[in-house]
Amino acid sequence: MCGIIGFSGDRNCVPILLDGLGTLEYRGYDSAGVAVQTECGIAVYKTKGRLDALRELLKTHPEAQGTCGVGHTRWATHGEPSDINSHPHEAENLTLVHNGIIENYAELKKELETLGYTFVSETDTEVAAKWIGHVYKQIGDPVKTLFAAAKDLRGSFAFGVMYHDRPHTLYAIRRDSPLIVAKTDTAGFIASDIPAILSHTRSYYRPGEDVVAVLCGSDVHFYEESGAEKNLVQETVNWDVEAAQKCGYPHFMLKEIHEEPDALRRTVMPHLKDGVPFFGVPMLDGDGLKDVGTIHIVACGTAMHAGLLGRAWIERFARIRVDVDIASEFRYRNPVLAPNDLVVLISQSGETADTLAALRLAKSRGVHTLAIVNVVGSSVAREADDVIYTWAGPEIAVASTKAYIVQCATLRLFALRLAFVHGKMSEEDVRTRCSALAQEMPAEISETLQLAPQLNEIARRFKEHEHIFYIGRGVDSHLCTEGSLKLKEISYIHCEAYAAGELKHGTISLVEEGTPVVVVITEDSLAEKTISGIREVRARGAYVVCFCASAVADRYSIPADEIVRIPAPAEDAPLPLMTALQMLAYYTSFEMGLDVDRPRNLAKSVTVE
Ligand code: AGP
Repeated sequence: MCGIIGFSGDRNCVPILLDGLGTLEYRGYDSAGVAVQTECGIAVYKTKGRLDALRELLKTHPEAQGTCGVGHTRWATHGEPSDINSHPHEAENLTLVHNGIIENYAELKKELETLGYTFVSETDTEVAAKWIGHVYKQIGDPVKTLFAAAKDLRGSFAFGVMYHDRPHTLYAIRRDSPLIVAKTDTAGFIASDIPAILSHTRSYYRPGEDVVAVLCGSDVHFYEESGAEKNLVQETVNWDVEAAQKCGYPHFMLKEIHEEPDALRRTVMPHLKDGVPFFGVPMLDGDGLKDVGTIHIVACGTAMHAGLLGRAWIERFARIRVDVDIASEFRYRNPVLAPNDLVVLISQSGETADTLAALRLAKSRGVHTLAIVNVVGSSVAREADDVIYTWAGPEIAVASTKAYIVQCATLRLFALRLAFVHGKMSEEDVRTRCSALAQEMPAEISETLQLAPQLNEIARRFKEHEHIFYIGRGVDSHLCTEGSLKLKEISYIHCEAYAAGELKHGTISLVEEGTPVVVVITEDSLAEKTISGIREVRARGAYVVCFCASAVADRYSIPADEIVRIPAPAEDAPLPLMTALQMLAYYTSFEMGLDVDRPRNLAKSVTVE
């Protein structure tokens, strides 16, 4: 998610813009820039990299002074991180910053090119800037221009605009993307989020999608499309900066779990065309998968656990052999790879050393590589032959949550595409399952979030224990693997996940009176077997908490001490159920008073071996 800030006031805006962008760093970014109304007109200073790089650049430009300007931190979506792709972007008559995704930018770009416009970047934002500039040339009114142009744009946006012929004045409009407006006695501000203005004021306005904000110093107005002025209610925030960066959540991890419904929609929707998978990758969208051999999914940690789910779905839907490898093993075991195999690398950060090494090994063997990555322009994304981006947005908490959900969703889309190409599933069945991913599952995850009180109560019990086991069968055993990692990495409780059928081959000797055992059941066909596993461990005194699809709980008498009913049909239940397991881990760590977002010994991205 990009960060936007704008200032119009009585003093040099550059330090204010930089400080404001600094409070938005939590949103994740790969480049930054500012535009300043100087004595010689609007000047743009932007660079790939961190804010420090922008500060260094500005030190070489003493002319970068002015009382009105906009700033931006970019989380790349269209076009790799680079100086030229950074914001602000310019048209001949305006300069703007943008947070969001313009879905129809390609169509607009083509139309603008026929009108003689040229482009210097790969971004959707430059297209938007030139489209708005073109409309401004037709209309001449800065406010009406934004309303008119917004009608032509599909997707999400929050724009901060400076028209070259309207000095000292900022204009702003939004759709879906966040934007706030604030003012003090001497200045006006726009920003993506509250932290950026907290050092100036605690009061702000939250304009809706039907107004344009106009700020000239402390003179701030909001206009409706009719031209009438709109009075907005001023809100006041009582958070500190760090709390504001978490949007009021106590931890980034909880915020990111709550972002999962939107992250899922943002990831799935762009990868559907007429309701079936479409990745914008010729090899995937064409017949390139027809002759694929074995698919090798290679990743680390949570990403590898997503791969386990991917294997289950690819083998079930497409009947294609899939191996899942831990990247640090794959790179050293001299894997057997055939020329028509496919190696799929999964990585949230795209910078995990072992995963990158596995990618390079596969390429050295001449095997096609596909990356599923959450960070645009990251090393894994750049070096793979093909890449499917997930759109979870920046994940700040070390424990991966929303990234896992969108990785699994992408793998499910991939599995459905394979099933269709290999004639194993009708287009209608593919479409039904794609619709469930795009529509029902986000809603089911949202409903699952309401289980927080029950999960918090279970966490209060779990925090007293040193050993906790997770058991399930089939897909459910993979959910257990990830659920136990989530709990152990942020609560430091020893957790192990076992295939439920494996308990009697040794592990059950560890179960004693009161040992908590999490049992996962979404697979209706395996429910009775797993319920036998519940009886086995309860006979040894275990305290059993069963996470299961509601339909399973309705159909079977489950002899658990507690049941967590996941509000989803069995087929859809794995992802919402994982949300519940993530919340259980979160509340256990929270109840233990631990640093949930920054657990000991761990880093967000393991860029070393
Ligand atoms: C996730 O909770 C862990 N922090 C860790 O396992 C992580 O998934 C792993 O390091 C892989 O990271 P990546 O997805 O950025 O490659």
